[in-house]
Amino acid sequence: MARKLAAGNWKMNGLRSALAEAKTLADMFPAPSVDILLCPPATLLSGMAEMLSGTSVEVGGQDCHTAASGAHTGDISAAMLADAGAGYVILGHSERRADHGETDHLVSLKTTAALAAGLVPIVCVGETFAQREAGETLGIIRAQLSGSLPEDCDPARLVIAYEPVWAIGSGKTPTLAQIAEVHDDMRATLSARFGDAAADIPLLYGGSVKPGNAMEIFDTSNVDGALVGGASLKAADFSGIVKALE
Ligand code: G3P
Repeated sequence: MARKLAAGNWKMNGLRSALAEAKTLADMFPAPSVDILLCPPATLLSGMAEMLSGTSVEVGGQDCHTAASGAHTGDISAAMLADAGAGYVILGHSERRADHGETDHLVSLKTTAALAAGLVPIVCVGETFAQREAGETLGIIRAQLSGSLPEDCDPARLVIAYEPVWAIGSGKTPTLAQIAEVHDDMRATLSARFGDAAADIPLLYGGSVKPGNAMEIFDTSNVDGALVGGASLKAADFSGIVKALE
């Protein structure tokens, strides 16, 4: 059985004053029965990690470079994220694929870098609305999984997030049957590659998860948690999602 994970992706949101939300969240869950993670912008990572030290809430990055260090202005390496207190890093989010032209191959190189630095990569996959309308969803997800996971990938230190691009920030979600279809297929795809170890890989759903729809999504086949954007910014909202997962 995969462990359950409620992960918040703050994206490019949050000034230092927002750290108080992270503290409030941690105070609400002194001993949670699920894993809780917040991925703030890089500017807040170190401060959040210090603030949450000794609590049940972990922190993660939102991206990393493929190299450990070097002449890459503006980039951050996986080792730097780990040094700042991160335990995880989100990789291949559709916003990075769209805004920065990230390919499956680049995501696989970043995944290797993250694993080498001791981080748990959360590798994101998801179809566009046009691809879903064209009946291509499962093929797209299989190709993204195949291309984004490196050969030397350790399944014991891997998280996958299925985020339909059209469901992100839109208030729209797939039907529960559509979520189950993709998550069941991802488990089968990962089992074909990793064998029994695939059963322990947390498969997160992401895209307009709110306190009001979280429970039914978490009851869906092969959904082990969520990667949450907007509703992770406020402890009052994210706590409802964490409780639904518990
Ligand atoms: O990574 C999380 C994300 O893309 C979903 O965003 O705002 O729809 O929960 P949101």
